[in-house]
Amino acid sequence: MTKLTDDWPILIVSGQFHAKNDEGFRLRELVQNLKETQHCAVLPSYSYEDAIEIVVSRADLGAIVIDWDICDENCDEKMLPTVLMDKIRECNADIPILLLTERLAIETLPTRVLQNINETLWKIADTIDFLAGRIVVHVEEYIRGVYPEFFGEMVRYSAEYKYAWHTPGHMGGAGFLRSPAGVAMYKFFGENVFRSDLSISVPELGSLLDHSGVVGDAEKNSARVFGADQTYYVLNGTSNVNQVIWRSQLLRDDIAFVDRNCHKSLNYAMVITEAYPLYMIPRRNKRGIIGPCRLSEFSEESIRSKIRDNALIPENLKGKSVKMSALTNSTYDGICYNVINIKKQLQKSVENLHFDEAWYAYARFHPLYKDHFGMADDDLNSDHPPIFCSHSTHKLLTAFSQASMLHIRDGSHVQINPDEFNESYMMHGSTSPQYSMIASLDVATKMMDDNGERMMRDVIMEAIHLRKKVSQIAGEMKKDNSWFFEMWQPRTVAFEDGAKQNFEDVPATFLCDNQYPWVFSAADNWHGFDDIEENYAMLDPIKLTFITPGLNDHGAMADEGIPASIVTNYLIGHGIVCEKTDYYSFLLLNSLGTTKAKQGSLLAALLKFKKAYDSNALLVQTLPDLVKCAPETYRNVGLKDHCLAIHTYYKEHALLDKMQAAFQVIPDPAMKPADAYHEVVRKNVEYVTLAEMKGRTPAVMLVPYPPGIPIMMGGEIMNDKAEPIFDYLMARQDFENSFPGYESDIHGVERVERDGKKYFQTMCIKQK
Ligand SMILES: Cc1ncc(COP(=O)(O)O)c(C=O)c1O
Repeated sequence: MTKLTDDWPILIVSGQFHAKNDEGFRLRELVQNLKETQHCAVLPSYSYEDAIEIVVSRADLGAIVIDWDICDENCDEKMLPTVLMDKIRECNADIPILLLTERLAIETLPTRVLQNINETLWKIADTIDFLAGRIVVHVEEYIRGVYPEFFGEMVRYSAEYKYAWHTPGHMGGAGFLRSPAGVAMYKFFGENVFRSDLSISVPELGSLLDHSGVVGDAEKNSARVFGADQTYYVLNGTSNVNQVIWRSQLLRDDIAFVDRNCHKSLNYAMVITEAYPLYMIPRRNKRGIIGPCRLSEFSEESIRSKIRDNALIPENLKGKSVKMSALTNSTYDGICYNVINIKKQLQKSVENLHFDEAWYAYARFHPLYKDHFGMADDDLNSDHPPIFCSHSTHKLLTAFSQASMLHIRDGSHVQINPDEFNESYMMHGSTSPQYSMIASLDVATKMMDDNGERMMRDVIMEAIHLRKKVSQIAGEMKKDNSWFFEMWQPRTVAFEDGAKQNFEDVPATFLCDNQYPWVFSAADNWHGFDDIEENYAMLDPIKLTFITPGLNDHGAMADEGIPASIVTNYLIGHGIVCEKTDYYSFLLLNSLGTTKAKQGSLLAALLKFKKAYDSNALLVQTLPDLVKCAPETYRNVGLKDHCLAIHTYYKEHALLDKMQAAFQVIPDPAMKPADAYHEVVRKNVEYVTLAEMKGRTPAVMLVPYPPGIPIMMGGEIMNDKAEPIFDYLMARQDFENSFPGYESDIHGVERVERDGKKYFQTMCIKQK
């Protein structure tokens, strides 16, 4: 690993690079020695102020050498080396700081400086070889510490260039070089990817399935960092995490209490465990944004009455307690629950709590999210059951796709035995794990451990700046009697003294340092959840919901409007891909990978859309792909007219009202989800068109996007109670036939074409 020093440039901050004096001469010699003898990259900086910019924006520095004598004591505060050092330590507690100074200057160095530095180097007195050598010693030691345990071992192992006589068959990549397609792949990914793709038979790297050796150490380290008693690395995504958790605790005919807003992997968890589901129903606001489930649903009485009213659970099982609850935290729209409140309720009647935090692995690392995540410390609660948390580390932290973590916190009285738990883990794990995925989980952990709060602060601040900018543009446009997109966020913020300020005028630091402006309250109902409980749920500022015109605050449809799918299609044409599109809102995620340039491009694209809309520019120019798919329909249509046509269709066919009504219904279950799936295995299923679905039971879950919530689970009946669901799906089918090119995703629904018309069909259980 020591060869890597040239990958880790040394920043040298000095005003003497070109000085025609002894110091300048020696500094130039030092730089030359570092480059030519020590093979290091050197990055010169001429002022403390410029160096601060470099330190803040680059995490790849190997060491920072600071010339103590650039400025005199009358210089500007920003120019002081002490300010630079504080900034360096704020960004990185470990990077070596070496002070170039004179022998006699030691007496004048402030204690604050001595606390921050690793070493002083005598500029004039020591030999150049010695100075360069000392710097390299520090760089090498620092780099060794940069590598977390597993990743470090993997890099060391692959640097040994061993002859592989084991799987994978490409053996360090060599196998790819036998054929041109393989060579192309080898060149694209680079040698390291293949040399680090190792077999489970390499003992140096430990065993993922046994959690031994360096893998086990890495998992234990992640447990410490993420606040768990045990952490497991799971390589088939959080979909797999959820199944491992459920399989470890539930048996056939156990009762589970599940968020209806759950990810489909939880539905499959119900299938494999053969559990009876009871559902929590998330509320929705008038815009259709999915809100938190009601706290009252978690009470003992409510859960008991759900069991009592469930037609499927046999009488002799109705006295059972609930084995597992599963709540999606945060929701897709970034609503996070105060977990402390929820635990207090659920622990009265649920044996294990599961928080599916696929989109929320970062919450522990910034105080803004205090108490609002599954592994939150809750010292006052001495009676909680075991808590399980699923994290898609790959979604919003930095890991390869599918690399996830499963965290467990033991209950106050019930411990999760690792050997027992591991049976479920192994049931869902491969015996050929991808080592680079494990390394990415190890690295994601170290990144959060070393810099989590600072990185999260940057991400939150950037999201807040973007929110403020959008509000400011919207405010300016409104003054000119025009329009712009708005953000779903508080409009004003109230301060302790009772004063109020518009959101866009509140300092970003205040919004980042205070949780309360983001916590939902009934008193300030910007969120539209009329019956929201106090101190119960908050909006995560980094999940950015943009609102398009078309609905007023009470959900009434305006005369004109801009359906969000048109905007997000337009954005795709400009290289911007959104996370989720609803009827009049769309969601973007600000994450560790978001840059200011990305934000600038987004705003520019939104402003371009506005211009194209206002001038009714032709769809041929604005949505060329749409026109290509149905030229006859769209060729001569303008963007504004197109928006109006779809908006009017939504309005006249009451599509949003139909959606609201459909999602209020939990249809009657004819059988457990597991039994519905068993009918698939028995081939006792057939496709049924929507028009003929009344009275039928789908074998699979139906999930329309938007909003991405299951509207029916496999085994539920399309009976009279489910009429609103039928009506909504029919309205979606008619809409797709009226507007070609707007075929949106509905999991569980296939389209068949007859006489030029599309019909929905679903796999249903055969009738006897
Ligand atoms: C709430 C929730 N849970 C679990 C998952 C599955 O995660 P993964 O894609 O890591 O399998 C998702 C994916 O979108 C999700 O949204």
